Amino acid sequence: MVKLSGNNKINLAIFISGRGTNLKSIFNFSKKKNSILNIKLVISDNKFAKGLEFSKKKKIDYKFVKFNKKKIAEYKILKLIESKQIDLICLAGFMKILSGNFIKKSKLKILNIHPSLLPKYKGLNTHIRAIKNKEKFSGCTVHFVNKKLDSGKIILQKKVKINKNETVNSLEKKVLMIENKIYPLAIMKVVKSNF
Ligand code: GAR
Repeated sequence: MVKLSGNNKINLAIFISGRGTNLKSIFNFSKKKNSILNIKLVISDNKFAKGLEFSKKKKIDYKFVKFNKKKIAEYKILKLIESKQIDLICLAGFMKILSGNFIKKSKLKILNIHPSLLPKYKGLNTHIRAIKNKEKFSGCTVHFVNKKLDSGKIILQKKVKINKNETVNSLEKKVLMIENKIYPLAIMKVVKSNF
């Protein structure tokens, strides 16, 4: 169970690097009636991330953190997380690998969404690899972040069929649609249970 903050909400920090469709879907979910989720902070390692424009528009606190010196970047983020009383961290298209030190020092659960059916296709370029290997299914996975890349305990996973004429683009679109659906559900699963 994730503890409730003073405002009786779960304060989320969402880490992004780009487009931010998962950020948007978590935001929309958090705005539903009786939601206990509250996006308190958005962190991006990319100044030009589209998700930052969205954050600005929706008046969510956001911060660009340069990652050229990872130790310094992580130190800054830890300070922010503490000062904003963050309860849960969600990586949503965040393309930097967080250190074991960060994971330990944050003392928080950290979730990530990955565009494959883990443990298959960890890392990058998941769609092209799945198509090349003639997989019948792909999908997405929300999992806990640990020291090993894309290897933490799985929280929620959803499959999509790979068609005969599937392209990287069409598969990416299909998978992204289900990512946007399951990420808020996976967060709620963690929040509500002792997962
Ligand atoms: C998503 O497909 C997410 O699964 C992937 O980046 C995309 C971000 O999209 N994440 C990773 O590959 C992490 N290893 P979004 O910015 O629209 O949420």
